[in-house]
Amino acid sequence: MSEATPMLEVRGLRTQFGTGAGAVRAVNGVDLAINPGEVLGIVGESGCGKTVLALSILRLIDAPGRIVAGQVLFEGTDVLAMRPRALTALRGRDIAMIFQQPKASLDPLMRIGSQIAEPLRLRGGRSRAEAWREAVELLGAVGIPNPEEKARAYPHEISGGQAQRVMIAIALALRPRLLIADEPTTALDVTVQAQILELLRERCRVLGTALVLVTHDIGVVAQMADRVAVMYAGRVVENGKVADILGQPAHPYTRGLLRSAPVMGAVQARLREIPGGIPDLTRPLSGCAFAPRCEARQQAGAARCDSQAPPSFLPRAGWQARCWLQAGAPQAQPAPEAWA
Ligand SMILES: Nc1ncnc2c1ncn2[C@@H]1O[C@H](COP(=O)(O)OP(=O)(O)OP(=O)(O)O)[C@@H](O)[C@H]1O
Ligand code: SF4
Ligand SMILES: [Mg+2]
Repeated sequence: MSEATPMLEVRGLRTQFGTGAGAVRAVNGVDLAINPGEVLGIVGESGCGKTVLALSILRLIDAPGRIVAGQVLFEGTDVLAMRPRALTALRGRDIAMIFQQPKASLDPLMRIGSQIAEPLRLRGGRSRAEAWREAVELLGAVGIPNPEEKARAYPHEISGGQAQRVMIAIALALRPRLLIADEPTTALDVTVQAQILELLRERCRVLGTALVLVTHDIGVVAQMADRVAVMYAGRVVENGKVADILGQPAHPYTRGLLRSAPVMGAVQARLREIPGGIPDLTRPLSGCAFAPRCEARQQAGAARCDSQAPPSFLPRAGWQARCWLQAGAPQAQPAPEAWA
């Protein structure tokens, strides 16, 4: 498959939660594409919609949440229109997901070897003995020492870092085409985080699995990803190659994230947080969602920033930014509707 035909394409995706205070527009018109074998980082502050987007891709949104519009095309087939059987086959076989809390995702009453062997047997057609042997091999491949012995352990007998390695082994056992990892290392200490991220990248590279890595840490994106989608208030505000965007961000929000990121190995006296907080997602906004916090608002034309949601502009090929500062560049798509 070439770059021109992505493996996964998200088009105009909107997911909302009905609450007493009104509908929370958690994902509010997201367009994304993921190519085979690439690593896409999805980054943004807490509450900007990263997890809801990841769950929406696999249709794992529960009530009061609802996907209200859009398409999720996996190799051309719309996941949102799939029948239950096709959806079950897709999850785990074609697309796997790793959640933030590894221990909570493991069954406390089942040996870890069995938790890896089970999908190999049930969905991969292996015999019981083959599945167990492969599970032990997979534990070795994710860096668990004495895998034969550890396969017999229960989740409470292993560390948080080892549990995350087990989750990676489970997620990749059936060699999915795409792995979505939602903050896979935030519960771990810094040294273990780096090891797990390296393992994740290495395993995906060996298997040719594309990786969507959800994180609030732009430093992780810099270290891991080929492309990045920066999310703010339920939308992708900047999207393109990591080298382009982190080198010369076009969107003021991306600049703010970079300034507030700790620099690896450097002692920073004080990080510059982006002042203010994310907007109330139940309230319709007519202008740019970032306007109340944006230091470039005057420069771009405050009246327009406050009254018109910016469309996606293309500062360069393969690079999109939703900001009126880029109004001189071609438009990637029609202006989005005002927040309905
Ligand atoms: N079950 C729910 N009911 C109501 N609102 C929800 C629900 N789940 C998520 N939301 C809202 O959707 C928005 C996006 O949440 P989401 O969990 O996707 O953020 P996030 O970017 O993953 O944040 P974090 O970095 O903290 O994980 C938030 O405003 C959140 O409050
Ligand atoms: S559109 Fe205006 S307010 Fe929004 S990020 Fe760009 S400059 Fe800032
Ligand atoms: Mg989240």
